[in-house]
Amino acid sequence: MNTPEIETPRCTLRLLGPHNAELLHAYRTRNQDHLAPWEPNTAQQHGSSAEACDLVAQRAWQGFMDGASVQFMAVEHGSQRMLAACNFTNIVRGPLQACHLGYSVDQQHQGKGLMHEVASAGIHYMFHSVCLHRIMANHMPTNTRSERLLRALGFEREGYARAYLKIAGQWEDMVLNALVNPQV
Ligand SMILES: CC(C)(COP(=O)(O)OP(=O)(O)OC[C@H]1O[C@@H](n2cnc3c(N)ncnc32)[C@H](O)[C@@H]1OP(=O)(O)O)[C@@H](O)C(=O)NCCC(=O)NCCS
Repeated sequence: MNTPEIETPRCTLRLLGPHNAELLHAYRTRNQDHLAPWEPNTAQQHGSSAEACDLVAQRAWQGFMDGASVQFMAVEHGSQRMLAACNFTNIVRGPLQACHLGYSVDQQHQGKGLMHEVASAGIHYMFHSVCLHRIMANHMPTNTRSERLLRALGFEREGYARAYLKIAGQWEDMVLNALVNPQV
């Protein structure tokens, strides 16, 4: 199976897998406090230990092999550090042809358009190579940075779900958004 590697001006998008789990470990360790308020409980329960990152990376790789997910890490040209995560999960085929998008950027690199650069490249791959029709992405009503990013990427608000996702131990409301591929 061909594994994608996508160049953007500042980064290379690589699939998360056992061979680069240590980059994920360094990223999660650096960004623990930055990510905790916004991450689903499952990610927080996994934690940031090397063992937990190994397991997440193994599952991500298997998910790609199974056609269930495409989980990218964005690795900075030069430093070779992981600067962002861009995860397309819950891929459903049949008449839906859809998935969910989740993302985060290194705290030190927020507000520089890097997440937009990485997510745009990932979305292009999911629409043109994986041939999905719809990408869904949700954010907490208070996550204005995430909302601005989704608007800039062309996502449209589709609804509001009460007590939708458990984040940091609480059932949180979420704003539901989607981007539709006009070509598939
Ligand atoms: C949500 C998150 C990924 C958004 O990251 P971000 O850096 O704000 O997003 P972008 O890459 O689109 O950057 C946009 C900002 O960069 C600025 N910018 C600078 N250079 C830019 C460029 N060349 N192109 C585009 N924007 C640029 C924009 O003006 C904008 O600034 P603003 O925040 O002051 O409005 C980030 O806040 C994050 O990781 N949060 C924690 C995890 C999280 O919430 N995940 C999402 C859960 S739903």
